Amino acid sequence: MTKNATVITAKPASLDAMNSLIGNDLKSVNNLILERVKNEIPLISDIITHIVSSGGKRIRPALTLICAQLCNYNGNRHIPLAAAVEFIHTATLLHDDVVDESKLRRGLPTANELFGNKASVLVGDFLLSQAFQFMVADGSLKVLRILSDASAVIAKGEVMQLMTEGEPQTTIQNYLDVVSAKTAVLFASACELGAVVSEKPELESKLRNFGMSIGTAFQLIDDALDYVADEKSLGKSVGDDFREGKVTLPIILAYEAGSSEEKNFWTRTLSDLNQCNEDLQQAISLLEKHQSIAKTISMAGEYCENARQELMAFPPSLSRTALFDLVDFCANRAY
Ligand code: IPE
Ligand code: IPE
Ligand code: MG
Ligand code: MG
Repeated sequence: MTKNATVITAKPASLDAMNSLIGNDLKSVNNLILERVKNEIPLISDIITHIVSSGGKRIRPALTLICAQLCNYNGNRHIPLAAAVEFIHTATLLHDDVVDESKLRRGLPTANELFGNKASVLVGDFLLSQAFQFMVADGSLKVLRILSDASAVIAKGEVMQLMTEGEPQTTIQNYLDVVSAKTAVLFASACELGAVVSEKPELESKLRNFGMSIGTAFQLIDDALDYVADEKSLGKSVGDDFREGKVTLPIILAYEAGSSEEKNFWTRTLSDLNQCNEDLQQAISLLEKHQSIAKTISMAGEYCENARQELMAFPPSLSRTALFDLVDFCANRAY
């Protein structure tokens, strides 16, 4: 790990309260996921077992479950739909790690490291199709629209991001559009499903807006953590974004505020991808100098505040409190 001035290591607000509130549902979702891991093609089971059993926070399926609870839902549709949401997420991770050439995920070597790029992409497609099978089994066209739109938007977001690689002069608005598409929309859809299964159309947009806000905050913090996390807590490599020339908010802010010498540094390292060993440390120093990490965390805080405002529209309940905790977790997380 590199020597950083800012290292986010403190154990933040925890997901424990939420997870115990939806404990039984979450177990059912996990069982359903594990059932689908089995496949007669060994390579499919091996890769899915690897990524599924390596853990993950399961935030997105938890959102579907807790939002259903917030809407006083009593049925069972939310279980397979939460599994569908996690499968979409898992598929995007398999694809994303190929695109990002990442080596570490959930504290273990990535599937692409262990099984190769081709197998990872193909099994990612397989997982996505599993998600669609869950949606079709649910039978609601509205559900199908929400999650198929989300899948299309995520893919679009990943492509939009590819187009800004190596361009530190890209705008904050363009960056936020990428974040909305590649991350926030799935959070939003996961939340909205809670209102959909509960047949409370008047709550759909509130939960969707809530999900957009915490999803955006989640990715902003992720982009800060990519420079300043404790690698062991994060379970991913620090500096991945820098090594691949990915332009995230900390970079945009430091580039904007930088001298012409500093701009040359960013152009050499991110646009030309001409990097030497000390460059990551130099990049972190420049981010510190311009308080880019602190500003990124602060912007995430604003989105968290928007999320809290949306929750205020709901009457007090244990599930609402758990969602407030989730917002705190997203604002302060170290992993
Ligand atoms: C990782 O998401 C991808 C991003 C949107 C930053 P998570 O941090 O939720 O990943 P897992 O599922 O917990 O590993
Ligand atoms: C997260 O992408 C969004 C998707 C997986 C679609 P990132 O590349 O920013 O996330 P990590 O850091 O690999 O988890
Ligand atoms: Mg990545
Ligand atoms: Mg990526």
